[in-house]
Amino acid sequence: MLLIEHLDQLYTCTGTTARSGASQSDAGLVTDGAVLSDGPTIIAAGPTADVRSRVTDPSAIRVIDGRGRSLVPGFVDGHTHVVFAGDRREELRRRLDGVAYADIAAAGGGILSTVRATRSATEAQLIEETSVRLAEMLAAGTTTCEAKSGYGLDVESEVRMLRVIGALGARQPIELSATFMGAHEVPPEYRGRQTDFVRLVIDKMIPAAAGIAEWCDVFCDTGFFTPDESRAILEAGAARGLKPRIHADELAPSGGSAVAAEVGARSADHLVHVPPAGIAALAAAGVVATLLPTAAFYLKLGKLAPARDLIAAGVPVALATDVNPGGGFSPSMPFAMTLACFGMGLSLEEALAAATLNGACSLDLQHELGSIEAGKRADLVVLRSPRLLDLVRVGVPAIRAVVKNGREVVREGSLVPRDAGSA
Ligand code: NIG
Ligand code: FE
Repeated sequence: MLLIEHLDQLYTCTGTTARSGASQSDAGLVTDGAVLSDGPTIIAAGPTADVRSRVTDPSAIRVIDGRGRSLVPGFVDGHTHVVFAGDRREELRRRLDGVAYADIAAAGGGILSTVRATRSATEAQLIEETSVRLAEMLAAGTTTCEAKSGYGLDVESEVRMLRVIGALGARQPIELSATFMGAHEVPPEYRGRQTDFVRLVIDKMIPAAAGIAEWCDVFCDTGFFTPDESRAILEAGAARGLKPRIHADELAPSGGSAVAAEVGARSADHLVHVPPAGIAALAAAGVVATLLPTAAFYLKLGKLAPARDLIAAGVPVALATDVNPGGGFSPSMPFAMTLACFGMGLSLEEALAAATLNGACSLDLQHELGSIEAGKRADLVVLRSPRLLDLVRVGVPAIRAVVKNGREVVREGSLVPRDAGSA
């Protein structure tokens, strides 16, 4: 058993339903807080005196003094393209020179450049390269993340990416939720034959991905897939048990949010250009808005998603990193929270709920994780500072330890090997 006690600030984010509207800012602050866990599961959390009273055999617990520290739930990053091969740092340089993401993509760069590298990589290479990125995410406090295919764009390569996600789930601490995203871009061999490619996705890729992935995603945007194509793909996925989520209104107001509402997507992501009618549709359909300010920032979109309007309309807002070789240049959920607070007008508490419980809700994991309460998984981030606020000091090491399933997996920025003893 593990007891962390006398924490200056414990943020529990309790619950099993997404925070929205006024409750988005309810992060469940407890001062002089404590958490007691037994193996992978939390037994009690709350004021230290209450939690202490639950300890029956003091000799069986390891006690950590939390004085001068704060504690938050492990971050749940609900949108990543963390599996890929190759490197597109050169595109970042071109964007610094003023070239737009859409222009780089139209010239054969962007997603297609990663498709070339990923198709020619072996499964072992993909596992190796992705492990490095997952370790960076873990050190930044992410204990669960979603991971998409979408750099294969043929049946075999898409399935290979999904197998890699499965293999990585068993090889490193971050828990992974797999998404099939065959409709991420039209591959070169289908240029000018987009309809045929959509048929390939529906007739061949979705049946192959069913049973391996949990989710189906589509890049519904200007220059990529239309709302009609996206709807057809997401409905075909749902018919095979792949639950819908969608890239919506990132580059232009292109109808993705309306499709999300129509098909009952769990999450609509990006939403930089979501129109008022799209916000109303998301609210009415109970879709989580997963916002990715890091991508908008590194892509230099000149605009961030209208988070305040979404919250005002009652749409639950989640935050994710969008780790990818193009614009997802930071693996850090605290950086996404920083941009959300200082660029999109969220309060610190709203951003925390977005990065934890609402992320879990976006992945249907709200009954197991996303908050610190009895019965949920002991996924914890111990902050060096007594104040949550210090999490948004970019460039300062803010995290003292990361605990996944009750085991300390990161200590002072370094990974703790699996056999180094429990937390
Ligand atoms: O979420 N928008 C589509 N997909 C990614 C970008 C992927 C890439 O550029 O490789 C995104 O931003
Ligand atoms: Fe994405």
